[in-house]
Amino acid sequence: MTNEDLDSLREAVRALPENLPLRRQLASGLERAERFAEALAEWEAICGRAPEDAPAILGQARCLYEVGRHPEALERYDRAVGLEVGLADAALRDRIVRAGADPRARIRLVAADKEDQGRGLEPEVEKPAVTFADVGGLDELKEKIRLRILYPLKRPDLYRAFGKKVGGGMLLYGPPGCGKTFLARATAGEAGLHFVAVGVEEVLDMWLGQSEKRLHELFETARRTAPAILFFDEVDALGGRRSGLRHESYRTLVTQFLSELDGAGGSKEGVLVMGATNAPWDVDPAFRRPGRFGDVLFVPPPDLRGRVEILKLKLHGKPQGEIDVTEVARALERYSGADLDHLVEAATEAALAESLRAGPEHARVRALQTADLLAATKRVRPSTLEWFSSARNFATYANESGQYDEVIDYLRKM
Ligand SMILES: Nc1ncnc2c1ncn2[C@@H]1O[C@H](COP(=O)(O)OP(=O)(O)OP(=O)(O)O)[C@@H](O)[C@H]1O
Ligand SMILES: [Mg+2]
Repeated sequence: MTNEDLDSLREAVRALPENLPLRRQLASGLERAERFAEALAEWEAICGRAPEDAPAILGQARCLYEVGRHPEALERYDRAVGLEVGLADAALRDRIVRAGADPRARIRLVAADKEDQGRGLEPEVEKPAVTFADVGGLDELKEKIRLRILYPLKRPDLYRAFGKKVGGGMLLYGPPGCGKTFLARATAGEAGLHFVAVGVEEVLDMWLGQSEKRLHELFETARRTAPAILFFDEVDALGGRRSGLRHESYRTLVTQFLSELDGAGGSKEGVLVMGATNAPWDVDPAFRRPGRFGDVLFVPPPDLRGRVEILKLKLHGKPQGEIDVTEVARALERYSGADLDHLVEAATEAALAESLRAGPEHARVRALQTADLLAATKRVRPSTLEWFSSARNFATYANESGQYDEVIDYLRKM
């Protein structure tokens, strides 16, 4: 379809706004022309008139994915397939999940594009749609973040009156898949802030020679889009304990990073810095001074209540029969949030396969049951154990100032 065809189709839709087949043609045409934002608007218009139109909801999912609104894309995808199992497209879902779960994946994509054009890496600025309501459990952490990040932004005067400095970064650490990145994005979403995410590995890998300049630009980008959260993933990559880092340039980069952090401290600029790492023991202690990453917080695997909440979140929009979520959650000790997501997916695939057993023409939705989820525990195993076995050493022998007390507590209960 040429642009002219699309224009005349749009004219027709304008004349006959209630004609859904026509609108569908326009939406598909726009999508094929890779005009995703416009296609999205058309799919949305169809859903406004026919809220249960599964193919149109799936169209939204595809377009939302393309424009980088991954959590919404996932929600739409699941809703569409919940309405019509025949629409399931595991590869699409996988792409959305991977893009949404791992900002690094997206940055890598952006980086690759930019490299093609022979330019440096531009950080992506987004306004996350996820909020604390999308994060299951972690109530204490949410409360800490409210007190230290969200309220100070809203009421700096109050904090000043109590002699509290506003600002200062927060470093989240813990086993993989337990929601560090997710929580940081949700913090931005909760407060309506921009979110600038950077993988430190990429700073090191890609910005050879000009890392300092790029690092400065990152902080500048955050300031320009303030109020914003500037999020550094894999902060430990700057720790210097890793082999293979060219020593001198690394040192200058760390120095630069520290002075940028000091400059960004204080919310007068409206830039809040958050970081995440799996290996806090590799993070240079200089990063932990007050005003830098002053708060170092443990993000544990979800407890029973957290698992119940996460399971409910992940099951949302899927065809559900009798599910005893608490019973399932009891069987999932030490599973991370990401593991729970995989588990629900595995169970869903099994139920979908069964729905399709008689062939796609005779497919009937077979809703998810407790047994499906319990059966999936055989295929999806908890992924946090390895982390704890290496963390045990550090928490025991490198705990001079008690910074890993929370880990020790957790290990004791384990
Ligand atoms: N508490 C939670 N509530 C809801 N979903 C969660 C939670 N924790 C993890 N998830 C799911 O798992 C995915 C992966 O989580 P996330 O990327 O935040 O983990 P991480 O702690 O940053 O892991 P890594 O150390 O590997 O970077 C999220 O996108 C989300 O779908
Ligand atoms: Mg992460």
